[in-house]
Amino acid sequence: MLITKKAVYKKKKYKLPPSPPKLPFIGNLHQVASLTLHSLRALSMKHGPLMLLHIGQIRTFVVSSAEMAQEILKKQDDIFASRPSVKADNILGYGASNVSFAPYGEYWKRAKKLYIAHLLGPAKVRSFKPAREDQVRFVLEKMRQAQKMSKSVDLTEVFNLFAVGILGRLVSKNFSEEHLVLELTKQGAALYFEFNFEDYFPPLRFLDTFLQYESKLTNISKRCDDLFEKMISDRKNRSAQDDKKHDGDLIGALLSLQENGELDFELTKEHIKAFLLDMFAAGVHTTSRTLEWAMVELMKDHKTMKQIQEQVRKIPIGGRGIITNEDINELTVLKSVIKETLRLHPPGPVAVPHQSTQETCINGYTIPKGSRFLVNIWSINRDPKFWENSDEFRPERFTGNTADFWGNNFQFIPFGAGRRMCPGIHFAMHNIELLLANILYHFDWKLPNGMTTEELDMEYAPGLSVMRNKKLHLVPN
Ligand code: HEM
Repeated sequence: MLITKKAVYKKKKYKLPPSPPKLPFIGNLHQVASLTLHSLRALSMKHGPLMLLHIGQIRTFVVSSAEMAQEILKKQDDIFASRPSVKADNILGYGASNVSFAPYGEYWKRAKKLYIAHLLGPAKVRSFKPAREDQVRFVLEKMRQAQKMSKSVDLTEVFNLFAVGILGRLVSKNFSEEHLVLELTKQGAALYFEFNFEDYFPPLRFLDTFLQYESKLTNISKRCDDLFEKMISDRKNRSAQDDKKHDGDLIGALLSLQENGELDFELTKEHIKAFLLDMFAAGVHTTSRTLEWAMVELMKDHKTMKQIQEQVRKIPIGGRGIITNEDINELTVLKSVIKETLRLHPPGPVAVPHQSTQETCINGYTIPKGSRFLVNIWSINRDPKFWENSDEFRPERFTGNTADFWGNNFQFIPFGAGRRMCPGIHFAMHNIELLLANILYHFDWKLPNGMTTEELDMEYAPGLSVMRNKKLHLVPN
């Protein structure tokens, strides 16, 4: 039971939450550099669900229980809904004008409202049906070719190309920059987590010159900017040629809003580029990793795989040739599998950092203004208090269980919760459900080269991510 804010705050001032022992000057930086999701959970189990890490000169609190997440993301959401200003955001994110990085305030509120109303809301996502289904057909065709030759498919690559392809198709009918987007988003994410002095030891920022941090950021930012410029100008040229308005795609929708001036802020080209960055950076690897882990887990759980296939193969697809999103409501096992995958391997395992905008108090501890917060979604989703055999893949736990991922059940928050919750849920779920249903409808899957399910790599790559160490190759039958 959490003690209320005001009562304790008066009694004990400046009592900070527990922290692992730190070294002079660098604090806990030496421990943080080698952290994995497992070791971060182990540290929190030792020091508590609200643990303080001194990362260089920056106070960072790690949140690792459902109760604590509810405190940060619901009860005191107004205080914790901002983002820290870090160098990568400022250079890559157009001065933090994308929604993911923008500080909490009027601009962020308006931009997020725009996402929900015009880009990622349920009706808009339904209208993206042709793009989604085109990409599914494209993937199925590739798989059929491999099937004919009894060859394996690199599903890691296929899922990445599918996720980027849908967004690509929504910015341009002839989009062909999938590989460039994948390269830039991967490098940008790596730089976001790379050590630099300005973010962790601000007085020593001059040393960043030796790390070439800024030049690496500027280089990626320039390449992204060139790509977005081209997307926007191609889109404008198309509108001029067709001589009609288009809002059935992402850039078209934004250009229409710009022309109509119906928003409560001036939408500039810089904003449009920042929003495109958000879509590609937040929407690609999250989707592809969920698909990949679902397939990995299903390969080890033959019974559940069969149950999905039995359900999905009962759907009469007729001349359509594919399962559609309208068919998916009946696929209860598929839905449970996706939930269980998001519980066990949430693709954003540690939420984008939050920052407090005023001093406050949690459970008797003082939280200074300007503190950073890392919500450890991965660890929360595996809390044995809420989930039996919490480290095991058991999709049946969601049968008849009303826990959903809409931010109301704090023991299951793959998309976060509260004001900063992911706005891309509809978009992501439509894509994930559609592709998974179709590849399980059309093919049986086996491991290549006599490999056994025990040999499937279940490890994460180093760092705080659920990326797998090895690529997933499977043979479609
Ligand atoms: C399985 C897929 C996805 C998962 C699990 C996921 C998860 C998350 C999480 C955990 C956050 C951070 C919440 C927080 O800071 O507390 C987030 C934020 C965000 N996501 Fe997603 N996401 C997914 C897909 C997408 C897609 C497809 C898009 C857009 C096309 C998207 C756009 C965003 C944006 C813009 C934010 C920032 C929201 C804000 O700061 O207000 N996400 N997502």
